[in-house]
Amino acid sequence: MASTASTAAVADGLGEILSQSVHARLFPAHLEPVPELNELYELELAFYESQVLSDHEIIRNGAYFARVGDILTRHFLMCSGEPVRLPQYSSSRLRSFFQTKQFKTGYATHGLFPYRGKFHPQMIKGLINVMGLKPGETVVDPMMGSGTVLIEACLMGVRSIGIDASPFCRFMAQAKLDGLRVPLAPIRAALKHAESVFTYFTGLAGHPRPGSKARFEDYVGDLFSGAPASEPGQRRSPPEGRLPKGCDDALTHNFLLLAYLDSAGYSERSTRRPPYEQFRAVLERYVFVADKIQRILAGTEKELGDAQALEGDARKLPIEDSSVEGIIFSPPYSFAIDYLDNDSFHLGFLGVDLSRLRQSMIGLRGRTLREKFELYKADMNQVLSECARVLRPGRVCTIVVGTNNNQLSKILDVPPEEVRGIEEVLTQLGGHHALHLVRKMGRQITGMANTMRNEFILMLQRA
Ligand SMILES: C[S@@+](CC[C@H](N)C(=O)[O-])C[C@H]1O[C@@H](n2cnc3c(N)ncnc32)[C@H](O)[C@@H]1O
Repeated sequence: MASTASTAAVADGLGEILSQSVHARLFPAHLEPVPELNELYELELAFYESQVLSDHEIIRNGAYFARVGDILTRHFLMCSGEPVRLPQYSSSRLRSFFQTKQFKTGYATHGLFPYRGKFHPQMIKGLINVMGLKPGETVVDPMMGSGTVLIEACLMGVRSIGIDASPFCRFMAQAKLDGLRVPLAPIRAALKHAESVFTYFTGLAGHPRPGSKARFEDYVGDLFSGAPASEPGQRRSPPEGRLPKGCDDALTHNFLLLAYLDSAGYSERSTRRPPYEQFRAVLERYVFVADKIQRILAGTEKELGDAQALEGDARKLPIEDSSVEGIIFSPPYSFAIDYLDNDSFHLGFLGVDLSRLRQSMIGLRGRTLREKFELYKADMNQVLSECARVLRPGRVCTIVVGTNNNQLSKILDVPPEEVRGIEEVLTQLGGHHALHLVRKMGRQITGMANTMRNEFILMLQRA
C-alpha cells in the first residue's frame, strides 16, 4: 500500500517538475529569452545577464532577451530590422521573426566580409555585459581581426580600441564601423552605376583572376602603403570608370573598396559568376546592410561608442597602464588558419610586404610545427603580460580560444590524454601575470570541426 502511495506522489511531483521549462526556472517571468538559446554557454551568459543587468540595461544592451515585460529589447529590434526609437508594436511580422535564426550573427555590419574565425557578435555582446562594462567605459581587442568587438561595443555605447598586426584587418574593421554611418545617397548612386564603379576599382586595385587563387607574389600592389585606412588610396594609374558624386570622401570610398575587395576575393576563389556580376551582387548587399542598420539606429546615433581601429602589435600595446575596463580577444591558432595566406589577395592590394608581416604574426613564426608552438607560447606570454598591464585591477580579460588536443599530441609527441590544451596553457600564462581564471565555459565548434574540436571562453580577473 505504502509503496503505491509514494509512487503516486512521485508521479504527481514529476508532472510538476516536467511542466516547468528550464528557462522558467532560470529567468524571472517578465524576461523572455530570444529563441535559439540552445547552447549551454549561451544559457549561462543569459543567466549572468539576468543577474547583473537592470531591466533598463537589458532593454538597451542585453544579448539574450527578446522582451522585458511588454517592451521589446534593442537586440531583438536590431535583428528584426525595426527602428529602435519608434513606439513599439507587435506586428505579425515581428511575431514570425521570433521563429528565425538571425540573433547570433545576422545584424548590423557584422555579416560584411567573410573573415575566417570571427566571433559570434551576440556572444560578444553577452560577454561585454557580464564583464560589467558600461557605456562610456573602454574595452580593448588586441587582435581585432574583422572588428567584431569594436562594432558590438560601438552599438552598446561602450568605447573600444582594436589592434591588429594586419593592415588589412585595420582597413576592414574601420570600413565595417564606417558602414554604421556612411552617407547613403552616394553608395546608392554607386550601386546604380555599378559597372563604372567596378571599372574604377579594377583600375585602382587590379582585376581579379577568376578561380586563380592567386597568391601575393602575383601582385605588386603599392596601394595604400603607409596611408591610414581613413584616407583614400593613392592611385596606381588613373582609373577609367568613375565614382559617382560624393563617393570620394574617405568613408564612402573605403566602404566601396571593401565591397570590391570582398567580391574580388570571391572571384579569385570561384568562377561561378563573372567578376562584375559578383561585384554588383556584393555591393547590393553592402548597400542593403548599411541602409538597414542606419534605419534601425536613426535618432540614436549619439549613443554610439567611440571606436579606434589601429594597426599594431598585441605584444606591445599603445595603451597606458591600468587604463581600460575590459579586454576581449581570440588569439590566432597556428595550426588552424594561416591568416596571411588567406588574406594574401587583399594584403597584396594594400601593398603589404608579406614576409615582413609574417615575422610579427603570432602563430606563424617558426619553421617546424614544434618550433611554431614554442614561439606561440612565448608570444602569448608577452600578450598576456601586456593585457595585465593595461587592465584596471578587478576587471576582466576574456579569451576565446580553440584547441585540438589530437593534433597537439602528434606535434608534441605525447599521448592525447597527457596533452595540455591551449586553453590550459593560456590560463597558466595568465596566472603568471596576475590574471586569474574566474570562469571557464566550453563551446562546440560547428564550422571547423576538422581542425578545431573545442573552444573555450576563459574569463581571467586582474588581481
Ligand atoms: C582569431 S583572429 C581574430 C578574429 C576576431 N576575433 C574577429 O572577430 O574577427 C586573430 C587575429 O590576430 C591577429 N594577429 C596575429 N598576430 C598579431 C599580433 N602580433 N598583434 C596583433 N594582432 C595579431 C591576426 O591578424 C588575426 O586577425
